[in-house]
Amino acid sequence: MAGSAIGLGNIWRFPYVVGEHGGAAFIILYLLSCFLLALPIFIAESIIGRRGRSNTYGSIKKLAPGTAWQWLGLLTIVSPIIILSYYSVVGGWSVEYLFKALAFDFTVPEEHIEGFFGRFISSVWEPIIVHTIFILITAGVVLGGVKNGIEKFSKICMPLLFLMIIIIVVYSVLLPGAEKGISYLVKPDFSKLTAQTATAAMGQAFFSLSLGVGTVLTYASYMKEDEKIFASGMGTAVADLLFAILAGFAIMPAVFAAGMEPGAGPGLVFDALPFIFNQMGHTSAPWISAIISIIFFLSILVAALTSAISMMEVGVAYLSEEKGLSRKKAVLLLTVFTWTVGVLCSLSFGPLAGVRLAGNSIFDCLDKLCSNWLLPLGGFLFTLFVGWKMPKPDVRDEFTNRGRCNTRIFKTVYFIMRYFAPVGILILFISNLIF
Ligand code: TRP
Repeated sequence: MAGSAIGLGNIWRFPYVVGEHGGAAFIILYLLSCFLLALPIFIAESIIGRRGRSNTYGSIKKLAPGTAWQWLGLLTIVSPIIILSYYSVVGGWSVEYLFKALAFDFTVPEEHIEGFFGRFISSVWEPIIVHTIFILITAGVVLGGVKNGIEKFSKICMPLLFLMIIIIVVYSVLLPGAEKGISYLVKPDFSKLTAQTATAAMGQAFFSLSLGVGTVLTYASYMKEDEKIFASGMGTAVADLLFAILAGFAIMPAVFAAGMEPGAGPGLVFDALPFIFNQMGHTSAPWISAIISIIFFLSILVAALTSAISMMEVGVAYLSEEKGLSRKKAVLLLTVFTWTVGVLCSLSFGPLAGVRLAGNSIFDCLDKLCSNWLLPLGGFLFTLFVGWKMPKPDVRDEFTNRGRCNTRIFKTVYFIMRYFAPVGILILFISNLIF
């Protein structure tokens, strides 16, 4: 579960969303969203999955046969496919940066680093080529079933990524001018909070924990009877949070030290990293910076791939199990679809930058649609299902492993799943529409 949760959402998305919404105050809302909205939904999905012992569609069919709840299965197939489209564009960026790291491109004289990302992203072909590479690797793994290999590899890469981020954090906070970035992350300015900020915090929590689309549900269907649902949810949430906060402290001080705009949007991290590695090359030694950057981008790529694979797998499972398509055809169909939508997203940083809906580029539109609306909607329905449709004794049995653990906190968690979480999401939805 941590493998699916930890990905570009932590390292790329978290820092830039924090930057777009004014820093520390957003982080506080994010913490609240994680524990009061996202964690209960994580638990709700786990309960459905372990009780239903199947994918989203199958579990719901088993627990509530012949009801309209089956539509929930459909919703949870649409969102990961859309997410995969733009996720693989960003995955492509990390492929590009891995190539650059391997070519020692970050250790060139400083003036060549200026505008590195801007030049790359506004060109037409380069981003599309690496997007294609990323989606093809994802498709290859899903088709070839070499997931085991990739998952084992990710067990090595996750700790490596963790280590690299720590090194970068230490380096970044020591840069001259970094203090402003640190205080940006720890000194809240509550005057900046709006309904949109709160929705964005919720959206980030959902995205980062892979909630609302049945990924957690499906994984939970493989959980053993004696594994504790609460503990695994809490463990995943804390690990995920740790990666995100560390990424914030790796990026934001450098953003301020380099005089960049924290609200620059999806390119923020990819703009700041060349600066960091370049400086590192000057103050330590070029080869040290090169090695750190290579390991860093390789591990990001693996983390992104494990997440992307989990998204494509949802669609493939649905198309092959419910619609009778062969696995090959399903993968082909999804690859062509996500590639095409991804190309549009990629071009929206260059030639299609002018195409905007309510001020948002194609990329931002799809991302906001999924993270801020579709994922929370999915989560909302999952908690309603557990809180109001499933019989309470069944829910209690799953949560407490038939009375063997966590019996005392069950009441509180059940209350949050039944009332607090759904009402909280609803209030955010409505206030976002009105204000
Ligand atoms: N959580 C992953 C990340 O942080 C992305 C991800 C994987 C995801 N599967 C998902 C997001 C399903 C939403 C839904 O990078």
